[in-house]
Amino acid sequence: MSDITEQITKRRTFAIISHPDAGKTTLTEKFLLYGGAINTAGSVKGKATSKHAVSDWMEIEKERGISVTSSVLQFNYDNYCINILDTPGHQDFSEDTYRTLMAADSAVMVIDGSKGVEAQTIKLFKVCVMRHIPIFTFINKMDRESKDPFELLEDIETVLGIKTCVINWPIGCGKSFKGVYERDRDVVSLFHAVSTGGSKKAAKEEIAIDDPALKEEIGEELYNTLMDEKELLDGAGDEFDQEKVSAGELSPVFFGSALTTFGVETFLKHFLKMTRSPLPRMSSEGLIDPLTEDFSGFFFKIQANMNKAHRDRIAFLRICSGKFEAQNEYFHVQGNKKLRLSQPQQLMASDRKVVDEAYAGDIIGIFDPGIFSIGDTICTIGKKFAFEGIPTFAPEHFARVVQLDTMKRKQFIKGVSQIAQEGAIQIFQEPSGGMTEVIVGVVGVLQFEVLTYRLDSEYGCKVRLDPLPYGYVRWIKNENFDFSDLKPVSDTKKVIDLKGNPLVLFTNEWNIKMLKDRNEGLILAEYSHKQGEEWER
Ligand code: G4P
Repeated sequence: MSDITEQITKRRTFAIISHPDAGKTTLTEKFLLYGGAINTAGSVKGKATSKHAVSDWMEIEKERGISVTSSVLQFNYDNYCINILDTPGHQDFSEDTYRTLMAADSAVMVIDGSKGVEAQTIKLFKVCVMRHIPIFTFINKMDRESKDPFELLEDIETVLGIKTCVINWPIGCGKSFKGVYERDRDVVSLFHAVSTGGSKKAAKEEIAIDDPALKEEIGEELYNTLMDEKELLDGAGDEFDQEKVSAGELSPVFFGSALTTFGVETFLKHFLKMTRSPLPRMSSEGLIDPLTEDFSGFFFKIQANMNKAHRDRIAFLRICSGKFEAQNEYFHVQGNKKLRLSQPQQLMASDRKVVDEAYAGDIIGIFDPGIFSIGDTICTIGKKFAFEGIPTFAPEHFARVVQLDTMKRKQFIKGVSQIAQEGAIQIFQEPSGGMTEVIVGVVGVLQFEVLTYRLDSEYGCKVRLDPLPYGYVRWIKNENFDFSDLKPVSDTKKVIDLKGNPLVLFTNEWNIKMLKDRNEGLILAEYSHKQGEEWER
C-alpha cells in the first residue's frame, strides 16, 4: 500500500450531533481520552473549571460574548486517524452547523436517554439523511433514570424514520444500572461508576451471558428482564447489515454513560469498524476517488474576522482526495487562479498547529484574504473540476434591517453583502430589486446579534433589526417564473435572494400548502442548491 493510500484508509471523519445537553461534549472528551489526546476530561470546551483548551480565535469570540466557532479535532486511536467535527448547538446554532455535516463521512447522534429524540437532533438528522451518510446512535446518561429502551428505539424509528439495530443493550438504568449486554460477543460489561471527570478510563469487568454468576451479579429481576429482552431483540429487532448502515438506512444503537466513561470504548471500537474511510465525492467530472494522488477539496465554512484588526478570515477546507502539501501551488477553480494555500492549520485535540501535509478526510483551516466562497473547489494544477455545491439551508428567523445612519449607505450595502457572502446570514430584497428594503434570514437567532455587532464594528454602520413574523421559506423552482403570475396567500412575503432567485416567506406550514394548492404546477424547494436536483422536495 502506498503511503497516501495507507494514510487515507485509516482516516475516519465524522460529525457529532445532538440536542444541547445530551452529552456531546462529554462524549467527545472521552473519545479524546481514549485516543490519548488529552489527559483529563473537561479540557475540550471552556467550562468553568476546565483548562480552557480552546483555540484562541474562540477566545476572541468569547470576549465579544458570542461564540460562532465550531471546531474540528483530530486524534489517533487504534491505528485510526480520527477527525471529529463538532456541530455547534445552543444559541450558536447556525447555518454553519448544517454545513459542517457536508464535510463529514458519517454522523454520531447523541441522545439523552431520559429525553429521547429532541428538536435540534431532528433538524441535523434530516441533513444527514439527505446526504445518505451512516448515522450511529449513542444513547447517553444510562446512569440516570431513562426512558424504556424499547421506547427510545421506537422514538428514533418513528420520529426520525430510520431503522435501528441494537449493538449493546442496557441492563437497568439510574441507580439500578448494572451494565450493558454486548450482543455480538455475548458478554455483559458490568458498570462500575468511575469518577466523573478526571483521567480515568472505565474499569472493565466482563461476564459471559451464560455464566451462572451473572444472575447473582445483576440480581434476579434484572436478569429475567434481560433474558426476555434479549429474546425480543433476537426475534424482532433488525439485524446489523453493513450495507444498510453505509447507505444511512440503518442506525447501529449503543447505550452508555459518557460521564462515567461507560460504553465509550465499546462504541468507539464498533463504530470505527462500521464506518468508512473517506468516500468518493461527486464533482462536475463525476466521482472523485479519495485515494488518487491528486489533491482536491472544497470549502464548507468560512470564519470571519478572527482578528478584528485585520480583516482576515479562515476558510475551512475538507480534503476529498490525495495529499495536501503546504509548499505546493494548487488551483482555485472558481477563482480560476493558481495559488499557495497560506498558513494551513489543523486542530489537534486542544492545539491549533500549522500543518505541512494533510490527507483526504482531514479538515484544514486556511488563511483567506477574502477570495474564497463556501463551496469553492481547490485541486491539483491541471485539473479543473468543481465539487457539488453546498445547499443554502432555509433560515427560520427573519428581520428587517433598518439602517440608523442613512449617510452610510455604501458601507451598509458592502457590509451586509460581504457578511452574506461568508454565509453567516442570508439577505433578501423586494422583487423590484435594489437594496431599498433588506430582509435578513438566519438559521439561529444569535446570528442577528453577530450581524448587528459586525456591521457596527467592521463597517461603522449602526442598524436596528425589526423582527418579522415569518418562520419558513421556499424557493420557487419553476423556470422563467414571474411573481405577477402567483396567486397570493395571506401572511406571506415575496422576495428575491442575492442571486435574484424568487422565493416566498411564510408564517406557517399551512400557508405553504395553501400556496401550492392555489398555484397548480408550482415547484417549491426547501433548499436552494447550486448543482443537481437531489435536494429538492
Ligand atoms: P452537550 O455538549 O451535548 O451540550 O452536553 P455536555 O457534554 O456539556 O453535557 C451536558 C450535561 O450533562 C453536563 O452536566 C454533563 O456533565 C452531563 N452529562 C453528560 N453525560 C452524562 C452521563 O452520561 N450521565 C450523566 N449523569 N450526566 C451526563 P452539567 O452539570 O451541565 O455540566 P458540568 O458542570 O457537569 O460540566
